[in-house]
Amino acid sequence: MSDAPDLVLVVDFGAQYAQLIARRVREAHVYSEIVPRSMPVAEMLARKPRAIIFSGGPASVNVEGAPGIDPAIYDAGVPLLGICYGAQLLARDLGGEVARTGAGEYGRTTLRLPGASRLFAGLPAEQPVWMSHGDSITAAPTGATVTARTDVVPVAAFEDRERGVYGVQFHPEVVHTAHGMEVLKAFLIDAAGCRPTWTNVSIIEHAVAEIRAQVGGERVICGLSGGVDSSVAAALVHKAVGDQLTCVFVDTGLLRQGEAEQVEETFREQFAVDLVHVKAADRFLDALDDVIDPERKRKTIGELFIRVFEEAASDLGDARFLVQGTLYPDIVESGGGDNANIKSHHNVGGLPDDMQFELVEPLRHLFKDEVRAIGEELGLPEEMVWRQPFPGPGLAVRIIGTITRERVGILQQADAIVVEEIRRAGLYREIWQSFAVLPAVKTVGVMGDDRTYAYPIVLRAVTSDDAMTADWARLPYDVLERISSRIINEVPGVNRVAYDITSKPPGTIEWE
Ligand code: XMP
Repeated sequence: MSDAPDLVLVVDFGAQYAQLIARRVREAHVYSEIVPRSMPVAEMLARKPRAIIFSGGPASVNVEGAPGIDPAIYDAGVPLLGICYGAQLLARDLGGEVARTGAGEYGRTTLRLPGASRLFAGLPAEQPVWMSHGDSITAAPTGATVTARTDVVPVAAFEDRERGVYGVQFHPEVVHTAHGMEVLKAFLIDAAGCRPTWTNVSIIEHAVAEIRAQVGGERVICGLSGGVDSSVAAALVHKAVGDQLTCVFVDTGLLRQGEAEQVEETFREQFAVDLVHVKAADRFLDALDDVIDPERKRKTIGELFIRVFEEAASDLGDARFLVQGTLYPDIVESGGGDNANIKSHHNVGGLPDDMQFELVEPLRHLFKDEVRAIGEELGLPEEMVWRQPFPGPGLAVRIIGTITRERVGILQQADAIVVEEIRRAGLYREIWQSFAVLPAVKTVGVMGDDRTYAYPIVLRAVTSDDAMTADWARLPYDVLERISSRIINEVPGVNRVAYDITSKPPGTIEWE
């Protein structure tokens, strides 16, 4: 195993930005982890961080019970960067002053640099930054120099090089701060001396070493879904332990067109992975016969999936480990730490409750963008690595009403056209999800001399960051036109295309 990467801890003071800060640090090729502010300082220091960043947070440092930190951290000799609330906390704790001056700043603000500094070395004397604060720092910590101001606040950044204490009132982690990454890098590399060694190659090396250490010579099973997480997890485990891995791919018959073939081609042909392809479409469609209630669909599919997976796994006999594609944000959001209670997706790839496997989670330290990057590095196909999210129950929740083979076929064809045209327009990556829905109505149309009575297809395309909220995508008219005319001309049984222009809330992304 190569050297452990330098570690930066991001202490979370309740900011919506903590994850973003950690991601940006990693973009600077330095490994970072988020820790709750309640973690004892001794425990933080035991991790031997090369630097510590205090995140922003919604509170005011001057109110009773404001989130603080054990002052022992200030004597540890570890370089500190405070961002927004974090900077105010440094000011308050280290002899400076924070006050509610009535001069808050929200949004784009011009930062002015009075002279030379470490964090802003080589940057323009005036630059746009993103602010979001009500309180202001009115005096920098004792011994620190003020390195930036704005027209509204006298202390927008400070630094004490000797002590290794740096503070910025603005948010360097957001894209609206023009030179944010440079400021972060100046802190990480120049001020704290972190080595920028967290690269795709080193991420893979570390994951491989970790998997080998955990698994030893035992057998491992991985459920493949066709999505990016399980694919990258499988590719990593395969790189680590080769033939000890068996992948199980349950084809429910409810996948997108070409997806099963691509899993075969990638894993069996390209990677020579031992792959069990369970062709269970008939079982799923039979179980879904006459099921129209969305929750019953989910339950039916979820339960059957587990049964089918279990059968395949028990045929394999003696595997001790099961791969899960858990990501770092899942761990942070479920409380962090090594023993976090991870939310597991009940439907596809989820762990059957009564199966006695130990989990291998090769992506547990990684953000989604890192997973994609190493997926590409490992040689997985671009379509797989950049695939938009797809619900576990698959097309079943996009076929409103009865699910029949014929209707699945119609939706797969229409969906393939949507994906193809969105890709061709260069929009696939910027759109969160784009897909076709088949409603349970028929409408009248006219084709040639004949009247038709056939299904409409609803086109759904949304932008989003996390699926919690979403907006309908403003697709160009010519893209809409091509999708519509191709679906109607190429997919028998469809005579109309409608575009769903509902945001979430009040709508949901899926139709069921
Ligand atoms: P909604 O429709 O609730 O979807 O706005 C939010 C996100 O979750 C996905 N989704 C699911 N994923 N099992 C899954 O694994 C499900 O039952 C399920 N239902 C919705 C949806 O595609 C979107 O990304």
